[in-house]
Formats: sequence, structure tokens, C-alpha cells
Amino acid sequence: MSHLVAVLAGDGIGPEVTHEAVSVLQAVRPDLRFEEALIGGAAIDSVGEPLPAATLDLCRKASAVLLGAVGGPKWDKLEPVTLRPEVGALLPLRRELNLYANIRPAQTMTPLLHASPLKEERSKCDLIVVRELTGGIYFGQPRGRQNEGATALDTCIYHKHEVERIARRAFEIALTRRSVLVSVDKANVLETSRLWRETVDVVAQDYPQVSLSHMLVDNCAMQLIRDPGQFDVILTENMFGDILSDEASMITGSLGLLPSASLSDAKEGSVFGLYEPVHGSAPDIAGQDKANPIAAILSAAMMLDLSFSDQSGAAKIRNAVEEVLSEGIRTGDIYEEGSRLVGTKEMGRLIQSKL
Ligand code: IPM
Ligand code: MG
Repeated sequence: MSHLVAVLAGDGIGPEVTHEAVSVLQAVRPDLRFEEALIGGAAIDSVGEPLPAATLDLCRKASAVLLGAVGGPKWDKLEPVTLRPEVGALLPLRRELNLYANIRPAQTMTPLLHASPLKEERSKCDLIVVRELTGGIYFGQPRGRQNEGATALDTCIYHKHEVERIARRAFEIALTRRSVLVSVDKANVLETSRLWRETVDVVAQDYPQVSLSHMLVDNCAMQLIRDPGQFDVILTENMFGDILSDEASMITGSLGLLPSASLSDAKEGSVFGLYEPVHGSAPDIAGQDKANPIAAILSAAMMLDLSFSDQSGAAKIRNAVEEVLSEGIRTGDIYEEGSRLVGTKEMGRLIQSKL
């Protein structure tokens, strides 16, 4: 059966990096079909809304979604905020497609160990943040302004079933790795966190092989810098995951290299997911052939791995990336003296040449 991949290139460097990721996918999997749709600022400019119905329809029809990036200064000040690419496209897309499990690996690559802001002997890390993506304070109602605008309100809500399903995901992932799971919350203050902790403890009974511990989020932020090597899988709620995943990504020193997946439940035997680089739309370098396409390309590898159960295709892509990096080929963001500077297209072409 030929899978359909929805391609939402978006704004800024999104189209450039996505183009390279699609080329790599085509080289490894000639059977995949691709269809493009508008999202973010590009969609606002051409049809007046950040997430057109046609885009959602295409995503629902597809087996997986490849996303570039959305947003930029041109659309940052639009009112109401629901017109802006982040709030008007990204959040409803996650919610509508039920992409509740956000998987964000942070793994140091040997050729780039020195790029970490941490001391080299401490910077080695290989962890995954499993972030709940469709609940919590990002979506809770009521929200808004009261008191003639002088009071602002957001609501953090979690339901037990939302915690259960993301916890199960995290335990399953831990089983495929070193089987060490740290669940992060703020249970000393928040009721949602106490529900979170209770629920994770119940799910843990089904996974006796996994070593589970709980950590408060402030301590986790500190531990990530003190000793990132202690972590294997970090399970946490939406907003804590937003913050901790940025922190974890920086430890690797190479934001431009990190992929991510946002997963829903299995649909006809395969897991539906949206795959995107962790980096944003970088409007300052858009259209200049400067962006690093590796995060997008590694996101494509995650797609093969998680949505299409094609571990060998995924490994081919990852190995090609490592090979190119070990040859000292670099885009500007990871450039160092003595290495060979290339643009987006050349980086993509070289990676393809290793496949
Ligand atoms: C992310 C981003 C988004 C989030 C923003 C752009 C809404 O920071 O994917 O981490 O907070 O989830
Ligand atoms: Mg974020």
C-alpha cells in the first residue's frame, strides 16, 4: 500500500528544509506519495486564515504529516491572537489531529560534542522528552481577560485519561531504551500534578521492568544542567515539556539538528504522526540557502521509524547524516574552523548521496 504524506512547508526556512527532507524520503521510499497544503503565515497571505479546512482535510487523509515551521514578524501582531500562526495553526492542528504525544529526543552527536555549552565531559546526553501536547494550561477553559482587561486568566486542567495515555506511551518508549523513566511535575503545589503523579504510579504497575521516579520540575531543570547523562525518558505535562525540551535541546549544542514527532493513536495499524524540526522558521535567514536541513531530515527518519515501522529506512537516513557530519561538512549554524561550509541544498544533496 502506498502511504500518503501531507507536506506543510509553512514559513521562513520551512519550505527550504522541508524540500530537502522530502527528497531524502523519496530516495529511501519511492513508494510514498506527497501532497502539499498551506499553513501559518503562508496560508494567511493566500487565503486569509492560518489553518485552512483543506489543510486539515489533507492531514486527516494522510498517514503522516511533515511540517516545516510556522510564524514570522509579519504575522506576530495580528489580532485576535487566533489569527497568528502559532496559536491559530499549530495549537488547533495538534488538538484536531489528537497529537497528544510529543516525542523530543535530545542526543549529542559525537562529531559535535564540543558544541555543547556544558563542559565536554558532562555534555553527553541521550534522552527523550515525552511531552503531553493537547491538554493542560495550553487548552484549559476558561481563559481570557476580566475586569476591563486588568485581570488575565489561564486554566490548567488534566483528566485522568489524558495522563494515562501519555504515561503509557512513555513507559513503552522506555522499554525500547534503558528503561529509566522520570516523571516530572510540581506535585508540591499543583493539584493537576498530584493527579498526574497518582495516575503515573498506577500505569507503572503494568511496567515492572521500568524504573520509575518522580521529580519536581524546578529540580529537573537543575539536574539537566548538572548531569544530563542521568536521564533516559522524561515524561511531563504540556508546559513543563515545552520548557524542559528547549533546555534539553541546548545541551546537545545543535538546535538545528533536532527532530520531533507528535503522535496520535494507531490508525489502521500504523501510528498517525506529525513530524517537524524542533527549530522555528528563522525568518532572518529565510530564502538564502543557509538553513540546516538536518533537523527536518531526521524528522523524516522519525516518520519512517514511528509511523511506517520502517526501522531500516530510518537507520539509513540517520547513518547518512552522521557520515556527512563526520566528514566535517557543516551548515553555518554548526560551522567550525577547518570544516567545509555548505548551504541547505548542498547539505541535502550530500546526505542523499550517502543513501
Ligand atoms: C513548541 C513551541 C510551541 C509550543 C509554540 C510555538 C506554540 O514552543 O512547539 O515547543 O509552545 O508548544
Ligand atoms: Mg517550545
